[in-house]
Amino acid sequence: MKQSDRISTLLGDGDDGWGIFLKAREMIAAGSDVVELTIGEHDIRTHPDILDAMNKAAIAGHTGYAEVPGIMTLRQAVAARVQARTGVPTTADNVMITPGGQSALFSAHHAVCDDGDTALYIDPYYATYPATLRAVGAIPQTIPAHAHDNFQPRASEIAKHAKGAKSLLINSPNNPTGVLYSRATLAGIADVCRTHDLWLISDEVYDTQIWQGEHISPRALPDMADRTLVVGSMSKSYAMTGSRIGWIVAPEAVIANLINLATHTTYGVPGFIQDAALFALEQGAPLEAEIAAPFARRREIAMDVLAGQNVVKHVPCMGAMYLMLDIRATGLSGEGFADALLDVEHIATMPGESFGQSAAGHLRVAMTVEDEAFREALERLVEFAKGLVG
Ligand SMILES: Cc1ncc(COP(=O)(O)O)c(C=O)c1O
Repeated sequence: MKQSDRISTLLGDGDDGWGIFLKAREMIAAGSDVVELTIGEHDIRTHPDILDAMNKAAIAGHTGYAEVPGIMTLRQAVAARVQARTGVPTTADNVMITPGGQSALFSAHHAVCDDGDTALYIDPYYATYPATLRAVGAIPQTIPAHAHDNFQPRASEIAKHAKGAKSLLINSPNNPTGVLYSRATLAGIADVCRTHDLWLISDEVYDTQIWQGEHISPRALPDMADRTLVVGSMSKSYAMTGSRIGWIVAPEAVIANLINLATHTTYGVPGFIQDAALFALEQGAPLEAEIAAPFARRREIAMDVLAGQNVVKHVPCMGAMYLMLDIRATGLSGEGFADALLDVEHIATMPGESFGQSAAGHLRVAMTVEDEAFREALERLVEFAKGLVG
């Protein structure tokens, strides 16, 4: 039987970029000692107090169908958080709770793109973006952001592709680059969106991991609230990756339609997970800071290890749990370097090319192992790179 073209072509024709990651997993399964700096997963688990709240909610009976848009108290808490952080008036009617940020990305594009519409996104990109856009029937179109601009996208590049496009997806703080978009970058993006009547989908799942500069949500920029859908998540900010809980913040009319979509797809998020998320959000900034602290420390360690040499350069690491290293001085591609580093040093990193061609010659290093192991791995990485240069 023939399956749908949409699902058969979901991944496009290219390599999905996970080769090194899979090779590392095979080496680990075969008993090798590999330092895993590949995926964006904390090395701590969900906080025991959050688990306690989850357990209490389940025991108390919150295990039946929960309200599809999310329980009202959680929608209100997300609305209050967003309003406090951005100053934009936000109510529960602007919020839908989703099974994680990934589902929110899919739903957000479903809400604004029809079959065959062009959906723009920035290269380098989070690896699932192109297939997510294809999954809703849109045609993904990359906009390059350049290493020589520290991966800040230029409005002029976006404008080149904006005519006739339907949406633009951005992500700040950025995975994979660790870059935070500046006010000037976001003002330029907002300008292009208004001029070309684009929906803006702003993936802000790393908004609690800010190391340098200010996180600006483009929904707060003039005349942007009506055309912006914000994707948020509890995964990174509260180490709740496996709980699958996030949200979309959008104009009320968009949320009303998204609730119809959720009714006919996910049917919402388990009530006891939502209660745990509400508990976590009520702890607020102190708990967010506690969860983010290991990455802030490791970023400092990285700056220390990388100082005083010129072979491995780094892109300004302003937010998120990643470090983007420029290894072009070694003459290898990101893929070639990551492969050799895994073979020789047993250190697994993601080649920049896994996130698009703009990150060629780079490596994404997830700062997700304990501090001393992280320092040692980076020191070995630098020595390995120096050895290649001779
Ligand atoms: C940029 C970005 N967006 C969205 C997600 C999805 O996160 P989740 O579905 O766990 O909320 C991730 C996960 O790594 C990510 O890096």
